[in-house]
Amino acid sequence: MPVWREGMKVLVIGAGMYVTGRDGTGPGTVLSSLAQTSKALPIEEVTVVATSPANAATVDAAAARINATIGSDLKVRYRAIARTVDDEIAALCSDARYDCAIVSVPDHLHFAYARAILRQAVHCLVVKPLTPTLAEARELERIRAENGLYGVVEFHKRWDATNLWVRRELESRTLGKLLYFTVEYSQRITIPWTTFRSWSSRTNIFQYLGVHYVDLIWFLTRCVPIRAMAVGTEGTLRRHGIDTWDSVHATVIWQNPADKADRFVSQISVNWIDPACSSAMSDQKFSVIGTRGRIQCDQKNRGLEVVHEDLGIQQINPYFSDYLPDVDGQLAFRGYGHESIDQFVRDVFDVVSRRVDAAELRGNRPTMREALVSTAVVDAVNQSLAENSSWKDMRDPV
Ligand SMILES: NC(=O)c1ccc[n+]([C@@H]2O[C@H](COP(=O)([O-])OP(=O)(O)OC[C@H]3O[C@@H](n4cnc5c(N)ncnc54)[C@H](O)[C@@H]3O)[C@@H](O)[C@H]2O)c1
Repeated sequence: MPVWREGMKVLVIGAGMYVTGRDGTGPGTVLSSLAQTSKALPIEEVTVVATSPANAATVDAAAARINATIGSDLKVRYRAIARTVDDEIAALCSDARYDCAIVSVPDHLHFAYARAILRQAVHCLVVKPLTPTLAEARELERIRAENGLYGVVEFHKRWDATNLWVRRELESRTLGKLLYFTVEYSQRITIPWTTFRSWSSRTNIFQYLGVHYVDLIWFLTRCVPIRAMAVGTEGTLRRHGIDTWDSVHATVIWQNPADKADRFVSQISVNWIDPACSSAMSDQKFSVIGTRGRIQCDQKNRGLEVVHEDLGIQQINPYFSDYLPDVDGQLAFRGYGHESIDQFVRDVFDVVSRRVDAAELRGNRPTMREALVSTAVVDAVNQSLAENSSWKDMRDPV
């Protein structure tokens, strides 16, 4: 268990798009968030590790850009590691006492890194999806609980104000009895084709993207999934050598734990073959329908559109994570993507300085235990896709 010192040491696994914004893919949400948080909390140093030595230049450039943009002074260093996960994490943790770690590597590697980190008794944030299978997620939750650690999943949609508004309405039963959710969520083909080329055939669009809305429905309703089935469509990506579904269509039946006759259905359609000229990286909308009304939420078109001779037409979401001027005109990293990572670091700070017990945060955060629900659905959907769209039952995932 880390012991509180002067400043926090943070370990980040992965140096890709989400961490550094490599190759102009974005701001680098993880490092930008840590830099912003370091202006309020004592973060002594961030160590970024990944397997390729070539990441060193990317990490250095990202840290310099971010510090210059928001006026922070975050110390970031890069270290290349071998693929022997347990040995490498053990060696890193014997060299330094990390207060927490953030795992942001391709989906199929989350389990091995998160397990190694939890075994070293380090508090841990894992980007979504927690793991592809429920057995792996249960194993992580077991090690976390055994070691009394704080473990969460970076489900940032729980911080989006529109979703919080919907949550309040559903909690006050404004819509009456819930009947169904529909979700449409898609991304540009450049994501599997170019950005995630090295690992897109090792995941699928439901596991990588659809999982967000599975967690959101659980967060909004506190109902649990009991059955799921899924259909995939294919062709475009497989023709280009990427062995995964173009789109996935999942039907999930949810049940109110307090009233087993109270059930609703969610239908989630996701793809990652939108044309590269789509007006946003993510196209997303959802509806929730109850006996007394409906709520429709367009999470792509948030009312901010840019038309530019170089960029074409773009729908901007300024609420996720971006550099925006603060009251003094200084750019600050803001948005629900930042808030989710900032909350994790603040929680770790409180846990490590013994202001709060990790167990007290259960139920109020997207903990690993909470993520057993979304992982159960991912696992059931993957099994259904592999077994000709058969129905899969889920029993007491959480
Ligand atoms: N990009 C986003 O907007 C976003 C948002 C939320 C969550 N995520 C999740 O974050 C994770 C990483 O996504 P990304 O966008 O940064 O991907 P990416 O492909 O850009 O980066 C992956 C990183 O992992 C490293 N890596 C690959 N194999 C490794 C290994 N064996 N050991 C250690 N490091 C290894 C690579 O060097 C690279 O730095 C994924 O699980 C993704 O679902 C991404």
